[in-house]
Amino acid sequence: MNAAVDTQLSPATFNRIRDFLYRTAGIIIGAEKSSMVVSRLWRRLDKLGCADFDSYFAFVSSREGATERGHMLDLLTTNETYFFREPAHFARLKNQILPSVRSRPVRVWCAAASTGEEPYSLAMVLHDSLGPRGWELLATDISGKVLDHARRGLYRMERLEQMPPEYLKRYCRRGVDEYEGMLVIDRALRDQVRFEQHNLLQPLEDQGGFDVIFLRNVLIYFDQHTKQRVLEHLVAELRPGGWIITGHCESLFGLKLPLQQLSPSIYRCETCLDPQRARRPA
Ligand SMILES: C[S@@+](CC[C@H](N)C(=O)[O-])C[C@H]1O[C@@H](n2cnc3c(N)ncnc32)[C@H](O)[C@@H]1O
Repeated sequence: MNAAVDTQLSPATFNRIRDFLYRTAGIIIGAEKSSMVVSRLWRRLDKLGCADFDSYFAFVSSREGATERGHMLDLLTTNETYFFREPAHFARLKNQILPSVRSRPVRVWCAAASTGEEPYSLAMVLHDSLGPRGWELLATDISGKVLDHARRGLYRMERLEQMPPEYLKRYCRRGVDEYEGMLVIDRALRDQVRFEQHNLLQPLEDQGGFDVIFLRNVLIYFDQHTKQRVLEHLVAELRPGGWIITGHCESLFGLKLPLQQLSPSIYRCETCLDPQRARRPA
């Protein structure tokens, strides 16, 4: 590190960074997370030759700082994910949700895709259940950096415990030479997933509606107001009878939405339900 860099983060600048992240992405950083922000950002000061966090934030806020705003966002988002995380959701997709959807292709949106493990897990289930042509999958995230990783489809051979062995065999290839110890997602499957940068605070444009939306492990970073805004955008994208799946530890409690909770973390659009189903007593 350049010895001239001062990595002290004053409370005032920390609050400006928190405010930036909230306004840009809806993400709340706890007041006690100052050292986390320092550990994630100090290399950028070093790289850009900024003497301290005040001058770094001044640059980030300037007209010339647009690219750096993207880097800062990449570094401040938490991208923890792995293949077949919360596996009950994938079983539910395969055994209940997909058999209930009549339209073809089945359209799925993975709305906080991170480095790709979640959308590729979905793609494996969709391919296995519906063949190569019965589905479409859009995978989005606010961070351009994680999407670059996702498009490459290259992963270290760890945290694969949840991946069904037959999927590992069928949809993944072992890396060779410099990729020894890694796996790559099969090219044909990779090509079927469309990755796009999208901020959940904004409506999604011109995508034509979805039967299923996975929105997992991102709502935990939002307050109630942001959750309401994000979910309204998502509900607007649901096709009749569409499903929304959240993370197991996330709740839509207290939000005003036309969603029926079928079980914890599984929701269906009430106003869109098939009228015959809607008339049936619960
Ligand atoms: C913890 S990861 C969850 C990944 C995956 N859904 C899972 O459950 O394993 C949260 C992801 O949400 C993304 N994210 C945070 N705020 C966002 C926003 N406003 N719009 C879109 N994506 C956002 C982050 O970049 C990060 O990749």
